[in-house]
Amino acid sequence: MIALLNKNLYQTKSFINNEWVEATNKQTYEVLNPYDQSVIAEIANLGATETRTAIQVADKAQQHWKKVAAHERANLLKKLFALMIENADDLAKILTWEQGKPLAEAKGEILYGASFIEWFAEEARRIYGDIIPGHGQDKRIITLKQPIGVVGIITPWNFPNAMIARKLGAALAAGCTVVIKPAPNTPISALAMAYLAQKAGFPAGVINIITGENSSEIGKELCTNPIVRKISFTGSTAVGKILIKQCADTVKKVSMELGGNAPFIVFNDADIDAAVEGAIFSKFRNAGQTCVCTNRMYVQSGIYEAFLTKFSEAVKKLKVGNGFDSDTVIGPVIDNKAFNSIQRFIDDALEKGACLLQGGGVLKPNSNLLSPTILSNVSNDMLLAKEEIFGPVAPIFKFDTEGEVIELANNTEYGLASYFYGQNINQIWRVAEALEYGMVGINTGMISTTVAPFGGIKQSGNGREGSKYGIEDYIEIKYLCFGGIE
Ligand code: SIN
Repeated sequence: MIALLNKNLYQTKSFINNEWVEATNKQTYEVLNPYDQSVIAEIANLGATETRTAIQVADKAQQHWKKVAAHERANLLKKLFALMIENADDLAKILTWEQGKPLAEAKGEILYGASFIEWFAEEARRIYGDIIPGHGQDKRIITLKQPIGVVGIITPWNFPNAMIARKLGAALAAGCTVVIKPAPNTPISALAMAYLAQKAGFPAGVINIITGENSSEIGKELCTNPIVRKISFTGSTAVGKILIKQCADTVKKVSMELGGNAPFIVFNDADIDAAVEGAIFSKFRNAGQTCVCTNRMYVQSGIYEAFLTKFSEAVKKLKVGNGFDSDTVIGPVIDNKAFNSIQRFIDDALEKGACLLQGGGVLKPNSNLLSPTILSNVSNDMLLAKEEIFGPVAPIFKFDTEGEVIELANNTEYGLASYFYGQNINQIWRVAEALEYGMVGINTGMISTTVAPFGGIKQSGNGREGSKYGIEDYIEIKYLCFGGIE
């Protein structure tokens, strides 16, 4: 057990109706530390039956919660925000323990997560409708924005706190109640948030968390149960497609934040040092395990060698290790399955003629530590050009012209994040407009923030999270038509 100032943050049971509950059959499953595979918790292993109960509880709570005044909902969210900040060090430790990312990065995630709770506390009071000029002399039209209802929230292991906070903040602000299914690998961060929400004073049934190993069973119940009116999911495109299909029969609204294949383009006139810094951040953040991580790097021929030299020097300095060691910059990848999948990308590229400039393998047996890897001489037939690597592997392509690189960058079914570095303002506008992505980082590798709409196009999903747009995914617009007005 890690040392926590507030030991109550460590919970292992699910959270339904403000109570900590076991599985009906008392089953538990093990959560492992990704660094050394030690068992860090025995977590309640719930399934479809308990999920159904939680949905009914959320539905009952919804009848009251939707009527709570906006400023009261805002105040509760502000209390939760304050508690997250107060407990940030403990929350970060829990996160590193179950997810592996370096402690400083984990603390950054807690603050990032808390910022969504704060943001949506502010937004709760600004869910305005409209008055529309009527279509007849006697007509008056008003729009109301009302909560969509019970929301199913399904979150990934790469951001065990922030991906919940980003959805939860918006849902609660809008007046929705929620049933959350955290990833099986990282439930403790979610349960710690439930504990803090209870302390903040959220009424019973407004926030419910179902832990369990059988993601498809719990997910299916959330997607098919007619009481649930919306599903918000962050995860792979493959799973997103299954969930969308399952939601079809009850015509649920869906927000899907799915996979990416982010290009990172460096033009000849770019500031090379800035580009290297941006590439390091956007490629190796969270050991390369984010949906917005750079997947393919395109460097223009005029600066190709210079960029490669500086990038390799910077990558060499990245220390890989236990997230609790203060000098660690890259922690382990989440589990053995992820490790093998990343290794497959490297092996496939090497078999097809890539050059290994750095890294390329396991650092320590059974640790899931993978050395940061740079591959050059890569080509479009390699797996890493087409699929999301989700690991610390940087493939570098050389290109000659702007037209060529735009075509290469857009040649994917994904459309989440993209990045480019250059100085020419005309080119900046041309490229920014031509990239078929929901988010474009220009001379920056860091685009994630509470204030901007996060989301993708094409098979990277739909809906936007955070920002003034984020709340819209959780509300329905109703219009009132008044007639006979003299
Ligand atoms: C994600 O990987 O899904 C989210 C990353 C972020 O918010 O920066």
